[in-house]
Amino acid sequence: MKILVADYIYTPNGYVEYQAVAFDKQIKAVDSLENLLQTYPEAQIIRTEPHSVIYPGFINTHVHLEFSANKTSLKYGSFMPWLDSVIANRDELMQVCDNKMMMQECDAMLRSGITSFGAISSFGAELEVCQQTPQRVVFFNELIGSNAQYADILYGDFLERLNASQSCNPDQRITPAIAIHSPYSVHPVLLQKAVTLAKQNKLPLSAHFLESQAEREWLESGSGELKTFFEKYFNTSTPVTNIEEFMVAFDTYPTHFTHCVQATKAELKHLSDKGHSIAHCPRSNRYLGCGRLKIEELDLPFSVATDGLSSNDSLSIFDELRAALMLHNDIPIQTLAGQLIKATTADAADILGLNCGKIEADKWADLAVITLPDMPQTKEEIALWSIIHTKEVSEVYIEGIKVTPSFNEEEKV
Ligand code: BEZ
Ligand code: FE2
Repeated sequence: MKILVADYIYTPNGYVEYQAVAFDKQIKAVDSLENLLQTYPEAQIIRTEPHSVIYPGFINTHVHLEFSANKTSLKYGSFMPWLDSVIANRDELMQVCDNKMMMQECDAMLRSGITSFGAISSFGAELEVCQQTPQRVVFFNELIGSNAQYADILYGDFLERLNASQSCNPDQRITPAIAIHSPYSVHPVLLQKAVTLAKQNKLPLSAHFLESQAEREWLESGSGELKTFFEKYFNTSTPVTNIEEFMVAFDTYPTHFTHCVQATKAELKHLSDKGHSIAHCPRSNRYLGCGRLKIEELDLPFSVATDGLSSNDSLSIFDELRAALMLHNDIPIQTLAGQLIKATTADAADILGLNCGKIEADKWADLAVITLPDMPQTKEEIALWSIIHTKEVSEVYIEGIKVTPSFNEEEKV
């Protein structure tokens, strides 16, 4: 048993002062050190630095590790030139992206306090790294392919990758899951099979949805920049589905939709009515010129995610949260900071079906300690100071074990 003591703890009831958390693999209690020692007299006491705050480990629900090699290869600024640059550079980027590079990015996530992430896997190339990294990983095997001719082959390959992620050792903390690439790139027959499979096996399900204006125009009227793209690369000039048909295919199974920047109020209401959620990727949306998701109008749960280095400059959750503070400049900043912390902890865990994200009894003891440079004046300001001042967290625990980015103290396998 360990007892972690800090000036503040972020709990489901807000920030509590001068308390401590008792945990082994799971959290046992939050109480005064005195009371906890009465129940657990043998516990190891760990005192954090002054001005520290204990948070549940942060959760990055959507990241593409396989694209970690991109620095300046891809074209940022506008969605279609970016997608063209992905097609042109994909093979080379994949080739130079080895396990070492992906593991360094898992380290970078860990240093920013990320203890769980959703890995969107196009090829299964990051499975080994996800097995080795100490973090919990929801491994989203991605299904892609709009051409019916290749549907069987692509589905077979997808099933093989899914099977591989289903055969992991429980110590590796991998949850197998399914990702649909997008409405424009997945044939409705494939989509239906994948949704049914997710539902039958209760696998988390995710899909990119209405990221760009070009996607909306193509799905609505079969025109615009995606028409040129499909004519060039796929020799077709008609979309395989439309917004309505794609969206209703998920009606009976809660899904984590990524982006939704170009969704209308009616479409967002439909997503909300059906119990879905959104992964909000502020920097990715800004870098690809896709627009701003109006999070102030959402009435469904949302997470905040980095997306991959194919549309970002780092996988730090705190870099992402600072960007979110700037992007949503009309939302009062203290309120927004509180929402962002909740979105990347409790809400993200609920969305991915993980038993973490809250500091309360019976949750996994996945914790991130951040240390502020000075004492906050009021509890209401802690969320904002945490986001503004945290470049790296000071300590991370996963399932009760202290982990370091270089994995010196603990290895996952
Ligand atoms: C497709 O298979 O249709 C597709 C693949 C990648 C990007 C866009 C479309
Ligand atoms: Fe993505």
